[in-house]
Amino acid sequence: MADYDESRLTVVDHPLVQHKLSILRDKNTGTKQFRELVTELAIFEGYEAMRDFPLEDVRVETPLEVTTCKRIAGKKVAIIPILRAGLGMVDGILTLVPSARVGHVGMYRDPETHVPHQYYCKFPPDIENRTCLVVDPMLATGGSLTAAIQFLREAGVKDIRCLTIVSCPEGVKAVLDYDKDVRLYTCSVDRCLNEDAYILPGLGDAGDRIYGTK
Ligand code: PRP
Ligand code: URA
Repeated sequence: MADYDESRLTVVDHPLVQHKLSILRDKNTGTKQFRELVTELAIFEGYEAMRDFPLEDVRVETPLEVTTCKRIAGKKVAIIPILRAGLGMVDGILTLVPSARVGHVGMYRDPETHVPHQYYCKFPPDIENRTCLVVDPMLATGGSLTAAIQFLREAGVKDIRCLTIVSCPEGVKAVLDYDKDVRLYTCSVDRCLNEDAYILPGLGDAGDRIYGTK
């Protein structure tokens, strides 16, 4: 049994997601296809992460009659990518919510200590009134994601949902233990971290694979 609050973890395990994730993991998948797959997986995850958005009635005139339909009841969304790799998921979420605002948190992990260093942070002015979808393909030690959650809580954000593509038990526990309300969506909880704090089996360095920097 997992030693974290599984009720706040959703593993998006649709067959299409698992199929695409397998291609993403393959070391022979090139930059262009990797980037496209990250966008597609972000769409599937975003779909799940917004499943509980409240609806309200709206009157619609079809070509045949007037009827009552549903629309999303005034939910305001902000997408918060953790730079760099999180940027790869933004377009996918914007496909679902074109009016979303985008805030940025810039962080990189120290290669020796694995501690995240922040180099940038900019949020939309009304961030505290928005549902924030924090996006980053990789959840390893959890240092980067917990730091991003901390910045958002300090800015007054109440509703935070984190979307990663590949996670590991250590990172999931770190995030869910750090914040008692945050919800986490991922396509896979992998086996473990290696001695360099890379996820096994994982997919390597997501930022380098998205941007072709290695
Ligand atoms: C990667 C990844 C996460 C972080 C995860 O970013 O995109 O942000 O590591 O590791 P953690 O859970 O141990 O914090 P990286 O620091 O390599 O920066 P990059 O996106 O610029 O490549
Ligand atoms: N960051 C990555 O990009 N990949 C990992 O496996 C761990 C951290």
